[in-house]
Amino acid sequence: MNPTRQKYTPGHTASATAFQAARELETHGFFLTPLLQPGFDVLDAGCGPGTISTGIAQTVFPGHVTAFDLSQKQLDQARRNAQGREIVNLDFVAGNVDQLPFADEAFHVVFAHALLEHLRDPMPALNEFHRVTKPGGFIGVCSPDWDAIDLTSHPVRVDRAIQAYRTLQDCNGGNTRAGKHLADWLDQAGFTPLMHDLWYEEYEDPATLAEYLAVPLDLAGQFHHATALRNWAASPEAGIRLCWRYATGIRADGNTRRNLVLE
Ligand SMILES: C[S@@+](CC[C@H](N)C(=O)[O-])C[C@H]1O[C@@H](n2cnc3c(N)ncnc32)[C@H](O)[C@@H]1O
Repeated sequence: MNPTRQKYTPGHTASATAFQAARELETHGFFLTPLLQPGFDVLDAGCGPGTISTGIAQTVFPGHVTAFDLSQKQLDQARRNAQGREIVNLDFVAGNVDQLPFADEAFHVVFAHALLEHLRDPMPALNEFHRVTKPGGFIGVCSPDWDAIDLTSHPVRVDRAIQAYRTLQDCNGGNTRAGKHLADWLDQAGFTPLMHDLWYEEYEDPATLAEYLAVPLDLAGQFHHATALRNWAASPEAGIRLCWRYATGIRADGNTRRNLVLE
């Protein structure tokens, strides 16, 4: 394994993008909503197809949302999604979260959903998130905890296939246990942690999550694991719940918790 290698495991296939595009602020960013106010400027880092970004934009209007991603293809998808919803206070910027092209203290809120688990070292990104957050501003992050995945049945071949996906993501420089570390990471980056908790996402059709895992396994040549997942997900006994962990924090410089004043 190359210790410096980092590869985004799910890839930007049509099925992976459609899987992520089912996410909304209400369903997947509910822990962020109490921190949002009309007039706030928000960074959605690793926005993917941008369906959560549009919900944030509607909530903070007339404030502004910057949807940010490494992939121009994802940003194009996010732009089409926003146009379809007639969202006007959202723009799209391509780049790497390790080096954000934004001024210090540019945002009232920074949000990163399902991003940190794909980074070899999340601290450069989190340090950047701290730099671009206004004093008194907030951060919200969410990542899965694959140790806590909940299956309705455990055929050995399915457990092995899920383990194979995890090994793939971890070898690609990701961290399938990222969810467990969120509050500590916020603290290390200089945020004062506000709260952390978890929720389980239950997939009405287990095949959607199975496909999300199977495609990267296919691409890695691990066809038997991909087939095991697809076959199991198509069976009547299949059910999957993914454990998401989330954390919020405040940039409280000098340990003072200031109320954020809109400029
Ligand atoms: C799993 S998707 C999550 C998308 C969206 N936030 C959601 O939850 O539906 C992760 C996104 O982060 C982006 N990404 C991965 N590494 C990145 C990096 N270093 N800088 C910026 N974006 C990155 C990927 O291109 C992908 O669109």
